[in-house]
Amino acid sequence: MSRRTRFALLPAAICMILAGCASPEAEPAEEADPIEALATTDTSDPLDYPRRWETLEPGDFVAYNRRLNMLQRGREVYAKYCVGCHGENGQGDGPAAVRLITQPRDFTSGVYKFRSTDSGSLPMEADLYRTITRGLSGVSMPGFPLMPHRDKLAVIEYIKRMYPAWEDEAGRRVVVASPRAPADVDSQRRIDRGRIVYVAMQCTQCHGTDGSGRGATQTEYVDAWGNSQKAFDFTRGSLKTGNTPEDIYRTFHTGLRSIMPSFDGTTLMTVAQQGFPPQEGLLERGELERLGPALADFPETVAAVFELPLEQQRTLGERNSWDLVGYIRSLRDAETTAEAVLGRPAGGATP
Ligand code: HEC
Ligand code: HEC
Repeated sequence: MSRRTRFALLPAAICMILAGCASPEAEPAEEADPIEALATTDTSDPLDYPRRWETLEPGDFVAYNRRLNMLQRGREVYAKYCVGCHGENGQGDGPAAVRLITQPRDFTSGVYKFRSTDSGSLPMEADLYRTITRGLSGVSMPGFPLMPHRDKLAVIEYIKRMYPAWEDEAGRRVVVASPRAPADVDSQRRIDRGRIVYVAMQCTQCHGTDGSGRGATQTEYVDAWGNSQKAFDFTRGSLKTGNTPEDIYRTFHTGLRSIMPSFDGTTLMTVAQQGFPPQEGLLERGELERLGPALADFPETVAAVFELPLEQQRTLGERNSWDLVGYIRSLRDAETTAEAVLGRPAGGATP
């Protein structure tokens, strides 16, 4: 009898002696992946050599060591580049954090802003990869465009370990579709319609009537991590996660957890001519006349939207989404983007 079988039978024997419970075949303990079991039960130092190593089969060591090497490398990368802000245990409390306004992310809570997944989900590894490669404009999170690919993968694995429920919850992630932008996303007609969507959806409430934050009814937010946060000023600088149409689309479709809500196609399709603008004072003088032709592109009433066949509703939601992207892009003053001021980042991380 191998040591492993003996280990597996022991609890079953105890169980039968104590309570006469169901037969041990009902719970085939041997079939549990020993690597997985160690990864989830060993909550001490992630690199601690497993105390139950003697129960592993030889082949298990290869997989285990591969993972161990990766985490080991991830820890080195983390200690070198991330610990100063994100802290020894990933709680966002590194020595530099006290001097920062936007606090570094606490990786132990599993709550992330920049995701391609829906509002309640963990991000995809690719989202972390993008954030680490590009960094976040306007805050202290630097980009690491030159970091070797395998080091990024390793540090991502290491960060994931800081949130023990990652493996369980990762299976429930819902990726929000991110189609390619239409070629005419920056056309004037789209920008005009996007302006209408922006006002109708009351992005104005937090981003101001002109996108600079001026005139917003709410100006300070406490985010999911207890930090105060200002609404983004679209007119200056780069967006945090990048300025491509796809980046902007992703941001408002998935939301930024707790402060910036998510606006998907189903929400965005409900813009109608009737009732626009929703309030006085949201438009500049003469703007309603100027937007007249663009406004005629929308259904007359919200009820009319819901009478459209589903496929057309979907198309309308998509159109309004890209129009909104075009409008937000049109607000940027190209002179103030990080690229314009500092030049294109080495490694060409930002497409
Ligand atoms: C100089 C400080 C600093 C350093 C160094 C730093 N970060 Fe950050 N990081 C931040 C801040 C601040 C934020 C939060 C930005 C925000 O909320 O807008 C952040 C956010 C992040 C996020 C995004 C989380 C989300 O909500 O989507 C990831 C991932 C991340 N950091 C990973 C890393 C990794 C990996 C390293 C090291 C390779 C690193 N950071 C180094 C300051 C830093
Ligand atoms: C309840 C307030 C609120 C509303 C309503 C709101 N936003 Fe935001 N939005 C925010 C805040 C706060 C931020 C900054 C969050 C941060 O930097 O962490 C933000 C950031 C953003 C960003 C920038 C993300 C980046 O990568 O830097 C985009 C794009 C955006 N909002 C689009 C929109 C659009 C489009 C609407 C309307 C459909 C909208 N927002 C409505 C509060 C709001």
